[in-house]
Parts: sequence; C-alpha cells; structure tokens
Amino acid sequence: MKGKKILVTGAAGFIGSNLVESLIKDNFVIGVDNLSSGKKENLRDFLESKNFAFKKIDVKDTDLLKKEMDGVDLVFHLSANADVRKGYGDSGVDFRENVQATLSVLEAMRSKDVREIIFSSTSTVYGNAAIIPTPEFYGPLMPISHYGASKLGAEAFIFSFSSNYGFKPSVFRFANVVGRRGTHGAIADFIAKLKKDRTTLDVLGDGTQKKSYIYVDDCVNGMILLHGKEDGLFNPRY
Ligand SMILES: NC(=O)c1ccc[n+]([C@@H]2O[C@H](COP(=O)([O-])OP(=O)(O)OC[C@H]3O[C@@H](n4cnc5c(N)ncnc54)[C@H](O)[C@@H]3O)[C@@H](O)[C@H]2O)c1
Repeated sequence: MKGKKILVTGAAGFIGSNLVESLIKDNFVIGVDNLSSGKKENLRDFLESKNFAFKKIDVKDTDLLKKEMDGVDLVFHLSANADVRKGYGDSGVDFRENVQATLSVLEAMRSKDVREIIFSSTSTVYGNAAIIPTPEFYGPLMPISHYGASKLGAEAFIFSFSSNYGFKPSVFRFANVVGRRGTHGAIADFIAKLKKDRTTLDVLGDGTQKKSYIYVDDCVNGMILLHGKEDGLFNPRY
C-alpha cells in the first residue's frame, strides 16, 4: 500500500499504534482516538512525522469525524471497547463503543464517499465454536459475551453498508493479539503479575485451557496485505 490517505480509528491503542507505525512509511495517516484506553505516548515515535496527523476525536461524534474524511482513500476501523470484562458490569458499553461507534464511522465515510473499510473484529462472534480452527463461514454465530455480540452487530452494519451503498469491507476476526504496547489479555496479565512477584505465577482456570495467539506484526501485515481480497472475511489460521 503506497501513497494513500488513510484514516485509522483507535490509532493510540495497542494494535492501532503498531498499524500506524507500519502505514506511515509509505502513506499519509490521520490517527483518530479519544484516548479512553489508548495513550498518546504509544504514538510518541511518529507524532512529529510529516506522514501523520493525530486527532483527538470520539468517533461517535459523526459531524466531527466527517471533517476528517475529505480525500481519505480507506479507513482502518480499530476503535472499540476492547475490554471484554467491562461489558459484564456495564452492558451498554459494547453497544455504544462497538455498534453505535461503527455506525457513526460508516456514516462519516458515506458522507464523503469513502468506501473502503477494514475492520478488526473478533473470534468471539462465534461463541463456543465446535470447530477449532474455526472456518470463516462456521455457524450459527452465537456470541457468549456482550463484546462478541456487539462486534457481530458492527460487522452486520458493515456488510449492510456494502450491499446498500457499495462499501468494500474487509473484516478480520482476530483472537488474542500479543506484542509491543499490549495492554490486555492473558499474556499482559502474566507480565504484570510477574513484575509484582517473579517467584509465583497465578494462572486463572485449571491451567489446562488453550488459546490461540497472533503476533501484532502478523495481525497488522495481514490486514495490510489481504484487505480488499476475496470475499472480505478473514480468520487467521494459528
Ligand atoms: N487485542 C486483541 O487481542 C484483539 C483481538 C481481537 C480483536 N481486537 C480488536 O482490535 C481493535 C484494537 O484492539 P486493541 O487491543 O488495540 O485495544 P485498545 O483498547 O488498545 O485500542 C482501542 C483504541 O480505541 C480507542 N477508542 C475507544 N473508543 C473510542 C471512541 N469512541 N472514539 C475514538 N477512539 C476510541 C481507545 O482509546 C484505544 O486507543 C479493537 O477493535 C478490538 O476489539 C483486539
């Protein structure tokens, strides 16, 4: 990907900041974030780059977001409530930050004729899938978390914008992404615990559970290389 004007939502987050770092080598990037879980510090190495502009915007503010869409070629939509546990206490947060926010991004794009969206979805849309690795077209999709339900809802709007307004979607259903600037998930938990006490590691559950992981560089490169290809729905194979 070269010479494009790209808008990245959730740019100051874990995956977003790694994505921006890669994209700014050959493109101009507008990084949008409300800094709710992300940090400007994650962007410090390229904040001054001529290929980067940071905008502190809440993507649910459609009118403000529209102003950033002029001349944009494609949008990587990564902003979300990515903290699955937060939704148990506040059952509305996933709806607001994942469904409503995605609709706002789609509307802002539509208003300026920006048609290509790359979306970081999640394997949790499947719920307890009986087949692992799970093929893209496994069903029925029965999420077991509000997070999974809201990402499925967001995907549904992305695909309906595709059929109604000619949007070109690429939806990546990632599982556990790990790597530099990571803040949540089992590995970040292990690191935080070991920093407090390097002699003991408390593992939740019975210790026999298995998880799939993908390194953040593979996640970022996958989105950059595969977007716009095939039918627009991708499950990483671990
Ligand atoms: N990390 C993983 O293992 C994983 C796995 C599957 C999918 N994903 C998805 O990838 C994306 C990035 O995840 P992450 O791990 O980097 O999480 P993160 O929390 O580090 O990044 C999310 C970013 O979005 C920003 N944000 C949240 N709400 C916003 C809003 N309304 N307006 C503007 N900015 C907002 C946050 O401040 C943060 O910088 C998310 O969509 C997440 O659901 C992550």
